[in-house]
Amino acid sequence: MGALKGRDLLSMADLTVDELHELLQLAAQLKSGKIQLKRQKILGLLFYKASTRTRVSFTSAMYRLGGQVQDLNPSVTQVSRGEPIADTARVLDRYLDILAIRTFDQRDLETFANYAEIPVINALSDLEHPCQVLADLQTVQESFNTLAGVTLTYIGDGSNNMAHSLLLGCALAGMNIRIASPVDYQPLESIVQKAKAIAHDRVEITVTPDPIAGVKSTQVVYTDVWASMGQENLAESRIPIFQPYQVNEALMAYADKAAIVLHCLPAHRGEEITDAVMEGSQSRVWDQAENRMHVQQALIASLLGAE
Ligand code: CP
Repeated sequence: MGALKGRDLLSMADLTVDELHELLQLAAQLKSGKIQLKRQKILGLLFYKASTRTRVSFTSAMYRLGGQVQDLNPSVTQVSRGEPIADTARVLDRYLDILAIRTFDQRDLETFANYAEIPVINALSDLEHPCQVLADLQTVQESFNTLAGVTLTYIGDGSNNMAHSLLLGCALAGMNIRIASPVDYQPLESIVQKAKAIAHDRVEITVTPDPIAGVKSTQVVYTDVWASMGQENLAESRIPIFQPYQVNEALMAYADKAAIVLHCLPAHRGEEITDAVMEGSQSRVWDQAENRMHVQQALIASLLGAE
């Protein structure tokens, strides 16, 4: 259970294939059972961006493990007045047992991880969202009883954190992944290359501007908002660019008949996904949101060595 003891999770690429499968197995056990930490532990949440699911699921996960949570609101701590991360990290390290951070720049997470001995978890950065992808993979596993060989299509903004972590997560899980995005919104080439290196030709990794080719016969259709947090001023101008990538019933007709639909939420209904698809029989979004809590419980227990 403590295979990840003392480690950080800043990227999906921080896990090996075996570690990913162990985490998902533990998450499945926790969904139907319970473990308690032997010693009282404290999780800190340092969130520079808004959050519903990540904040509440981490808090509930820690309470279910018998631990406690400190909400370190940046606006009432010295980080908002410019205290260097290196200093903040070394101080928080003395008070907490584990720290989850939601921030903008991945390099800030790396600085926290370098200066704090305790495990640091990426609770979303502009580059990656690994905790979300762990829950996504748990949901795919529950739906298909396997991950290996399943094809997932991410449709929408391929340059965002979800697309990047899904590329790495699917490569680790042995899943084929297609990213269907407008040409100017495709994933970072460095992430695509990293995913290919992880996959070792075991899976197909495709990036295409064609939404229909991307979705054809796929088993998982995944979407996210067209403008991520911090890009709200671009939302209006992006609508015509992304409209052909809307997940609606017409597009779903190209997917496998047994395909499921995932969305990391929050959703902008009528933009990247229609009401009909979100509420339809193929949608697994509520199970997906629930799994955030189970898989993060497994992650915390594993990073703490389940002491
Ligand atoms: N999916 C996700 O991270 O949701 P929140 O922004 O509400 O945490």
